[in-house]
Parts: sequence; C-alpha cells; structure tokens
Amino acid sequence: MTISEFSIGTEASDSAAPARRGTTDAALRAWVDEIAGLTKPDEIVWCDGSQHEADLLEKQLVAEGKLIKLNPEWRPNSYLARTDPSDVARVEDRTFICSTYEEDAGPTNNWRDPREMRTELTEVFDGSMKGRTMYVVPFSMGPLGGPISQLGVEITDSPYVVLSMGIMTRMGDAVYRLIEAGEPWVRTVHSVGYPLVDGVGHRRAEIEWPCNDTKYIVQFPDSREIWSFGSGYGGNALLAKKCFALRIASVMARDEGWLAEHMLLIKITSPEGKSYHVAAAFPSACGKTNLAMLRPTIPGWTVETIGDDIAWMRPGEDGRLYAINPEAGFFGVAPGTGETTNPTAVQTLWGNTIFTNVALRPDGDVWWEGLTDEIPEELTDWQGNPWTPASGRPAAHPNSRFTVAAAQCPQISDDWDAHDGVPIDAILFGGRRATNVPLVAEARSWKHGVFMGATISSEKTAAAEGTVGELRRDPFAMLPFCGYNMADYWGHWVKMGRILGTNAPKIFQVNWFRKGADGSFLWPGFGENSRVLEWIVGRVEGTADTVETPIGLLPASDSLDLDGLDITDEALEQLFDVDRDSWLAECELTDEYFEQFGDRVPAALKAELASLRYHLEHS
Ligand code: PEP
Ligand code: NA
Ligand code: MN
Repeated sequence: MTISEFSIGTEASDSAAPARRGTTDAALRAWVDEIAGLTKPDEIVWCDGSQHEADLLEKQLVAEGKLIKLNPEWRPNSYLARTDPSDVARVEDRTFICSTYEEDAGPTNNWRDPREMRTELTEVFDGSMKGRTMYVVPFSMGPLGGPISQLGVEITDSPYVVLSMGIMTRMGDAVYRLIEAGEPWVRTVHSVGYPLVDGVGHRRAEIEWPCNDTKYIVQFPDSREIWSFGSGYGGNALLAKKCFALRIASVMARDEGWLAEHMLLIKITSPEGKSYHVAAAFPSACGKTNLAMLRPTIPGWTVETIGDDIAWMRPGEDGRLYAINPEAGFFGVAPGTGETTNPTAVQTLWGNTIFTNVALRPDGDVWWEGLTDEIPEELTDWQGNPWTPASGRPAAHPNSRFTVAAAQCPQISDDWDAHDGVPIDAILFGGRRATNVPLVAEARSWKHGVFMGATISSEKTAAAEGTVGELRRDPFAMLPFCGYNMADYWGHWVKMGRILGTNAPKIFQVNWFRKGADGSFLWPGFGENSRVLEWIVGRVEGTADTVETPIGLLPASDSLDLDGLDITDEALEQLFDVDRDSWLAECELTDEYFEQFGDRVPAALKAELASLRYHLEHS
C-alpha cells in the first residue's frame, strides 16, 4: 500500500507541486518511508514551516476541539491546549539512555541495553500512527548554517507538536535544502501512542489529548537518535529541546570539543556602553527565566535576553568561547510569571502564544496563579472544570506552560540569533540554598569553577540551625539532561578549560535564596540581582575587589553596589558568612556524593575537594 504524501496547503492531487514530498534527499526519504512502514499512518505531511501551514493546523485543531482559540481582543492568534491530566510533565523514570555500555550512561541515568530497547520500541511503534497523519518536521537548532548550529528532523503524529516546534525551533523548508547539500542531521521519532485503528482493524474515537499510559523517552547516544512514545507534553515530545539540545547534544559536544548546557544567556551593558555576555546554569524552578529577562534596578545598566534554557558553546577562531541559544522560543512555566516578578515575560505573551494547562477566563483570556495580584472570581480550570477562589485547588496546573517566539520578547538582544554566537565573559552556577552558599563567590580557577558546577545543589528540607539541610544534587543543572556518565561530563568540562586556557570565561557561584536565622530570605532577588551582575562585570574588568575565603573569592566590603538598597549590616554579614564547620560537613556530603561515580570522578575535582577541606581546616 502506498501512503499519500503532501504538504499542507498543497492539494494532494496536485502532483506538480514541488513541495509535495518535501525533499529530494534520498537518506531522509528512505528514513521517512521506514518509519511510515513501521507506524502505518494514513498519510504523510512534509512540513514547510510556513505561516499558512500553521494557520491551517490551528484551524483544524480548533475544529477538532483540541485547541481553544483565545479572545483575539486580549490575546491575538493565541490558543489554549488542555492535556490529559496524566500527561503534564517530563517523565524522568521513563527516560532512557541506551548507550552500548551501562557505565557510559552512568549511575544517574536510566540505562537500557540498546538492542533490547530497539526490540521493545519496534513493538510499541508498530501501527502506532494508524488512522493518523504523520508529520515530517525539519528544524535547525541555532541560526541556519551557523558554525554552532545543528539540524534535525522530527517525525510526529501530533499537530500540537508541529505547531510548538514551529515556535521553538527554526522549522521549515530551508532545512531540507541544507540536508540535500549534505549537512548532517539528527533523527527523532515521536508518537502519542494512540492509534485510531486497533489491532483487528476497528476504528476508535479520537479524544481531546491522545496519549498512552506507557511512555518511553529514549536516547540512543551512539547513533544520535531519539524515540519518544506515549506523551504529547513539551519536554517529552518536542524532541529538539531536552532530548536533542541537551541529551544527544551533550554527547556530540563531548566527542567534538564543545559544550551543550542547561543555561540561560544574557547580554549585560554597562553605563559606559560596554557589553558582556553571561551564561548561567540553575536547576529547574530556580528562576532561570526571571534572570534571563531581568530588569536592572541599578541606574545605567541594561540586561538583554538571548536564551532562557539552553546554551551551546564552542571555541571560536580567536580562542574565546562562543555561545548560541539553539532554540527560537520560550517554553516557560506560567505560574509565578507575573506583572511584578517578570513583566518582560508577561509582555512577551501578548499574542501568538500557545498556552498549555493554564486557566481560562470568562472573557476568553488566560490566567494562572501569580499572573495578577487580583484573583479572578470565576474561571475554568486547566481540566475544563468551573473554578472559584473557594475551590481550594490551583486553577492552572503548577507546570502549565507558555510557548512563544523569542523574537517577541521586548528585551531580546539584537545578537540573540548572531550567526557565530556571542563571546562568553562569565559563567554562573546557582542553586536554591538556604545555608552555606553566599550571594556570590568567584572561582579561584576554571577547575575550581567546574567543582562549583559539579556540586550545585538545593536544600530539600529546612535545615536545623547551624547545619545543612538534606541536599538535592543537580550538577550543572544537568542531572536529568546529561546524555552520558556525569563524571565523564565533569572530565569534559575540565578538558575544555585546558583548550580555552587564558581565554576561558571566569566562573562564579551565586545564590539568591540564602535565609537568615529567622527563616526569611536575606536578599531581595529579582531586579536587585543586577547588583551581583555589576560586581561580576567588575571582576571581568579587574576593577572589583575581592577577599579570599576557603570557598572562593567574595566581594570585598564596599565593592558590591548597595546604593538605595534597604538591607541591614547583619543581613549582609549572614549573606556572605562562610561557616567553617558547616562547610566541612558539606565536604563530607560531597565526598559521599562523588563515591557513586567511583574512579570516573576526575582527579581535578577530587583535588578541589581536598583543597577546599585544607583551606577550611586552616582558616
Ligand atoms: C519541560 O519540562 O519540558 C522543560 C522544558 O523542563 P524545565 O522547565 O524543567 O527545563
Ligand atoms: Na543550522
Ligand atoms: Mn530547563
């Protein structure tokens, strides 16, 4: 049986239409045929990334009741999607790294034998698209043809995924042309796992959010392939994002001498008009999007957004480290994004946005907890049920999201899609620490900085006074996203420091979340974090003074600009306090943490831990 193929907006009967079968590339065509042979869709659509294509898909999804069109008066060209209540987040326990050897996945990943996994996947994907349309989605991560960019193709049976990929990546025809010219590309396959024809040929009814109770998010690092089954949700289904741009790309980066990181990117400009570029890694829910869209409170400084989630960085011809945001959009958490916490994000969402699992207002606009101080009296919640403030449950799902083009951000940097990327001046590592970690500390060296990245953690529980709470480790904020052994990844970072030499960016540890003895935050955060950025720029310029401590270089008194800030001397003291005993206790925890990686922990990191202990004991 031959499956009809076309591109949207082209009549299937119009065989003369050149776009009808997407590409002439033999390898891409053969792979699409192979996946269609396995998944057995009714038809194949070769996506071209045009606005016309997106318009038609949106119309279709609205007609099918799978998207709600928002009131264009408030939110032009914007839609609300409601997922199945079981399909609302990444599924880390169903995420697999299938390297040939288990040790190469490491103790922090779920490893499965690649041959066994392929057998299992062949079973679940067999006929998984029956009764559906299969879309071929060509995309570029980073500017088309750029030296740090990479190409990929996602096959999916979810039109919601096609629309989201159109926002989150440079998706479209131009990618076919680059593939035809011989550029390498990554193969990714996605199915929601809800065929509309069952095994014995009976049709079944379509539902609002098709998905499957059994889920697989599978990375094959050796062949650089991704297979995702059973979920339609962002991080599980938009395979360009976490699966490719972090898990597979981290392996490519290891093999090719670059870095694929869970980092935001910003440009900072001083009152003198000099610009600096900063990359920063924070675990999920530590305010990455807020820092990416920060509005400085200190006069004369500006911060512009380049990326809010992922950075790819590669040494340039001048030996410096250059970074791109490989994405073209933001897939941000809605709750907590509000007029006061992140006005830039709120403004970004004026239109052309897909919202997922937020609440709907009676006037056809959206709402979520934290958007406005005032709570609406009446809403439809994320599951489609009537809601009032008395309902006693959140109106928007806590992991509800917005999907919007980066270019729509009012403070997007003019070099956010620079072909060659931007040169990085400083790298920041942060977690959510109530104790120990000061507001900012500069690493003594690249290796010390790698140690800071490797030991990023957040406190799980409130600490008893003078002790450290139970730590949730999230090295480099990459715990769920590193496609290989985490200790080897640290080794790769150490090696990149040798390659960069004196051109290496400075590394800093920051912590906006330290608490005082009374349990309240010591630092106001948000826009006031610009004061910390100013000090970091001062360190890059060599103008800001430091004091040496066992844990790194802290701001010398008066070197941090506190003009106009209402903060007591006592709070400042606690904010920068380095408690010897409590840090020695933390060294014990780090020792235990490293143990699970055995002899793969780089000698340089063991030396850093030993040096930290030595400095603490002699302080
Ligand atoms: C996601 O869950 O799809 C995602 C982007 O993850 P996070 O917000 O944790 O980075
Ligand atoms: Na490209
Ligand atoms: Mn993220």
